[in-house]
Amino acid sequence: MKIGILTSGGDCPGINATIRGVCKTAINHYGMEVYGIRSGFRGLIDNDIVPLTNKELSGLLNLGGTILGTSREKPFKKRSSASIDKPALILKNIQDLQLDCVVCIGGNGTQKTANKLTQAGVNVVSIPKTIDNDIWGTDISFGFDSAVTIATEAIDRLHSTASSHQRVMVIEVMGHKAGWIALHSGMAGGGDVILIPEIPYNIHNIGNTIIERLKKGKTYSIVVVAEGIQTIDGKKAAEYIAQEIEYETGIETRETVLGYIQRGGSPTAFDRNLATRMGGHATELIANGLFGRMVALQGDKIGSIPLTEVAGKLKLINENNDLIVQGKRMGICFG
Ligand code: F6P
Repeated sequence: MKIGILTSGGDCPGINATIRGVCKTAINHYGMEVYGIRSGFRGLIDNDIVPLTNKELSGLLNLGGTILGTSREKPFKKRSSASIDKPALILKNIQDLQLDCVVCIGGNGTQKTANKLTQAGVNVVSIPKTIDNDIWGTDISFGFDSAVTIATEAIDRLHSTASSHQRVMVIEVMGHKAGWIALHSGMAGGGDVILIPEIPYNIHNIGNTIIERLKKGKTYSIVVVAEGIQTIDGKKAAEYIAQEIEYETGIETRETVLGYIQRGGSPTAFDRNLATRMGGHATELIANGLFGRMVALQGDKIGSIPLTEVAGKLKLINENNDLIVQGKRMGICFG
């Protein structure tokens, strides 16, 4: 069999480990031929495709980013009549190359496109990739553990300034619609207030929590916010919350936006192994002719789910999440 592999959407720790997992299994175990498609779906439009052999696949396990490059190209997005017919070009290129399957590694946008590609008649297997952990159908996506680890270390470090200067430190982490990184790093980093897009907040509750802490002799507080919490005037989440807290409490407050550092560099051991397992499973699906499916972590097992069930959905945090329930019992403010 001849397979193509692409990486699409934001980069994230563990992509290269996944490419390695897919391709080494495909070449060494199943005797497949593998092609790397450059810059996400753009590579399928431009026919920017290179053969991958064991040589290109060495040294990838701990390497950040993606050796194939990525883009946010959405070939099935509505286009003006004058523009090129991207889906038609993609189908032609896949046919010319005689690819038996395309492996798509990516986040929610990628899963949608992978589903459209399946509907257009292409054999597709996809793998969930995002630090945001918001892909429906998988308990965890690779990249999430690395991002949480980085954010937790940042929160640990911010404690020094918070306690030394008796300040409130606000840290903004990624997550537009889902607050998984904020919840997990906030809890692991000992946050006193954790704000996620799924739970509307009340600034007076946040102020009261910080004042109550002060009354108990806790002269500093750590506030972890997801970038997607609703703010007035579209302000940056951390900036807005920091201003409001200072106004509400009179305590000196500073903000830090963690940004792309969360997506950069080496994956954790957990993510490397998840990536390897997911990559291997994707190849198994191909070998068994099971297409139109996304690989998924379900409990402690790797399985798969039809792309039709994944596309267009988001995995958000439920208020009954055990970290939230436990956090509330311990006095952490969630808004
Ligand atoms: O990959 C998801 C994500 O990390 C979001 O949390 C973030 O807002 C977004 O990517 C930003 O990525 P870019 O600036 O590359 O579009």
